[in-house]
Amino acid sequence: MGLNVQNEWWRHAVTYQVYVRSFADLDGDGIGDLPGITSRLPYLRDLGVDALWITPFYTSPQNDHGYDVADYTDVDPLFGSIADADALLDRAHELGLKVIVDLVPNHSSDQHEWFQAALAAGPGSPERARYLFRDGRGKAGELPPNNWESVFGGPAWTRVEDGQWYLHLFDSTQPDFDWRNPEVGDLFEDVLTFWLDRGVDGFRVDVAHGLFKVESLRDQEIAEDEVPGASAASAAPPSSMVERTLRDEPMWDQPEVHDVYRRWHRILEKYDGDRMTVAEAWTQTPESMARFVRPDEMSQSFNFSWLLAPWSAPAFADVITGTLDALAPVGASPTWVLSNHDVVRHVTRYGGGPVGLARAKAATMTMLSLPGSAYLYQGEELGLEQDEVHPDFRQDPSWFRTGEEGRDGCRVPIPWSGTAAPFGFGPGTGQPWLPQPSSYAGLSVEAQQDDPTSTLSFYREALAARRAHTTGIDDHVEMIDLGADVLAFRRGPVTVVLNCGTAAVALPAGDVLLASGAVEGGKLPPDTAVWLG
Ligand code: NOJ
Repeated sequence: MGLNVQNEWWRHAVTYQVYVRSFADLDGDGIGDLPGITSRLPYLRDLGVDALWITPFYTSPQNDHGYDVADYTDVDPLFGSIADADALLDRAHELGLKVIVDLVPNHSSDQHEWFQAALAAGPGSPERARYLFRDGRGKAGELPPNNWESVFGGPAWTRVEDGQWYLHLFDSTQPDFDWRNPEVGDLFEDVLTFWLDRGVDGFRVDVAHGLFKVESLRDQEIAEDEVPGASAASAAPPSSMVERTLRDEPMWDQPEVHDVYRRWHRILEKYDGDRMTVAEAWTQTPESMARFVRPDEMSQSFNFSWLLAPWSAPAFADVITGTLDALAPVGASPTWVLSNHDVVRHVTRYGGGPVGLARAKAATMTMLSLPGSAYLYQGEELGLEQDEVHPDFRQDPSWFRTGEEGRDGCRVPIPWSGTAAPFGFGPGTGQPWLPQPSSYAGLSVEAQQDDPTSTLSFYREALAARRAHTTGIDDHVEMIDLGADVLAFRRGPVTVVLNCGTAAVALPAGDVLLASGAVEGGKLPPDTAVWLG
């Protein structure tokens, strides 16, 4: 397994995901904002990351917390202004941090002027042709045009007053664009240019595999052994989004989508500074992921395979070899991610409590040793767990549409300091937009920053070790057999061992460069990782 080593910054970067509502609230309204992020940039620099990715902060009614965009080239007053975005970019660049912004091209908000015009203009109009309006089935068109289900649960179609239906693969307030209409491509060219001109270093592309649907909008075939409704899987998170049980996916990963990314590639190429794109593409295989990152398309694609894997050395080994083997033919660099704003935090996925935390640190450290770039999610450096958000405070549309767990539990505002809510998240007193648990008192940045045994200190140490020991080394990964419960590999001068079993294992010779737990007498305890040099 080996990859071409090229020099663009994003090929080896560690990027920290900022969920804007929940990172830092400067104006004290209980919701995070852009000036809040700017005020905390020195923290990110000191943590040792290279870049930040900020979730959508554009004008939006916030039905899906910004993934429902009403104006792609303005900032929602909730989060600040264009001047605040400019100030954030300037300060980040001064501190040597790159900034990636979110781009949401699959759908807009129903409050976008185009959708409002489409509703007003009526069937057959050019305004409707920017979205996917269709007549219904049944005698009086009373049935949806096909059998597709929304990723957030329920039918993917909503009927409007004049009887037509429109497609929304997510919430009914998020109508899907018709990317076969050239006006849509032109709109997004303008959006890209707008933000590139302001100095952003890259775009995280939401639902990158979804823009084109099969042209006929035919029914999805559901075999007898399959569970309907679970396929929208390919889009992302709640359990329905990650369990892929339907094989036929006429709404995802259509070949036409790649022309869009070739066009975007040509736009980005005109700018200096190695501007980049990273695809959120929940594809069925590593091979289909690789198609998004061919040399003339996107720079990177999120690789969700580790995040979906169980706590198992063979499963992790398959993820690593499968990823590297799939990407090598297209010369793309891999990405690794364990948590984001759509999935259960990895401490909790790995069992929660001390064991969950030990495993999370070990997995993170292993991920950070691999070639390519890594994405961290805000709060993982504090060891935060998924929170149990009381139903009265739930906000995630997928919770309302499915009653399933939803994603609020990984979006609780960050504890910065103090012993009571809002834990320095914003000025004043009282709970922010999602309530913080009292356990945050011991997990705040302030509580951890000077404690050498804290999770925060471990992340700082791990990021510094990555810089010191993996910069410029060979990207080739060679698996080593240390037993069925042990993931072990060599990358250049560094040997990485992760013990997923229940007994301590004897380590090969070498100096300990970094360890996620106590390594004594040449033995690696369970749920622990080590880098040897
Ligand atoms: C993926 C985003 O990560 C998620 O938060 C959002 O709900 C959907 N795309 C729809 O935009």
